[in-house]
Amino acid sequence: MKKQLIALITLLLPLTAVAAGGASVPHSMEPDLQDQASLQNGMKLYVNYCMGCHSLEYQRFSRAAEDLDVPQDIIEDNVIFSPDAAFNDQMKTSMSEEDGETWFGAPPPDLTLSARLHGTDWLYSYLLGFYQDSSRPTGVNNAVFELVAMPNVLEPLQGVQEKVCPEAGASDDVSDSEADCDTLEVTHQGELSPEEFEGAVYDLTNFLAYVGEPSKLKAQALAPKVLIFLFIFAVIAYFLKREYWRDIH
Ligand code: HEC
Repeated sequence: MKKQLIALITLLLPLTAVAAGGASVPHSMEPDLQDQASLQNGMKLYVNYCMGCHSLEYQRFSRAAEDLDVPQDIIEDNVIFSPDAAFNDQMKTSMSEEDGETWFGAPPPDLTLSARLHGTDWLYSYLLGFYQDSSRPTGVNNAVFELVAMPNVLEPLQGVQEKVCPEAGASDDVSDSEADCDTLEVTHQGELSPEEFEGAVYDLTNFLAYVGEPSKLKAQALAPKVLIFLFIFAVIAYFLKREYWRDIH
């Protein structure tokens, strides 16, 4: 029995390694839901660059405003573009699914749960992963989403990114230089430097992480208070116990 178990485990181990390897992406990020400035900037970027095509069906303007501490009039003046939309509505795009299908060949999916579906590392890498590819109708391809139908909407900020080979001499190993030509490099800078752009994409991903699980923001803020309460309560309970048992010992 034991032998069979060991055999089974040795059989399964490489499989889990393959599964983990398949999910690996070039960049990683750690969401920080307590960083309100980052979340606010992420929301601003989302509204300006993404909401034209993608909805957040399960997120209301009012909820985001409350959680991220953005005043209602700012939301109404700067975030709600559609004349039919109100403060309490869901953050929907005004583009219909049919138009999306016709224009891009694939309707832009709802992004409410995208951070939970793909993970934030993937999302972050995806947004950093657009590069020039003249064979594509949009002129770009994506390092983690092959043949993607989405145009590189952040190009004004990032600039033009291309696949390049490392400069001669940078790598001694000539044999696999073909594979090395996968390095992405910004060849014409946009409004932001590469570091600033990574910061902006971090904020955007952070915002989408919040949207995927809005209650986590409050839960995390509450956690230290709960721990302090538990600590104080433990001290009281300890003295109470001493008091009760005093006569028995
Ligand atoms: C001009 C329309 C358009 C805009 C603007 C746009 N997207 Fe997209 N996006 C698409 C389309 C179309 C797809 C579907 C791609 C496919 O299936 O090949 C897509 C796919 C995606 C996906 C992959 C989703 C999945 O689960 O397959 C993510 C993530 C995404 N977009 C994020 C964003 C973010 C973040 C922004 C804002 C910076 C943005 N998009 C702006 C059109 C757009």
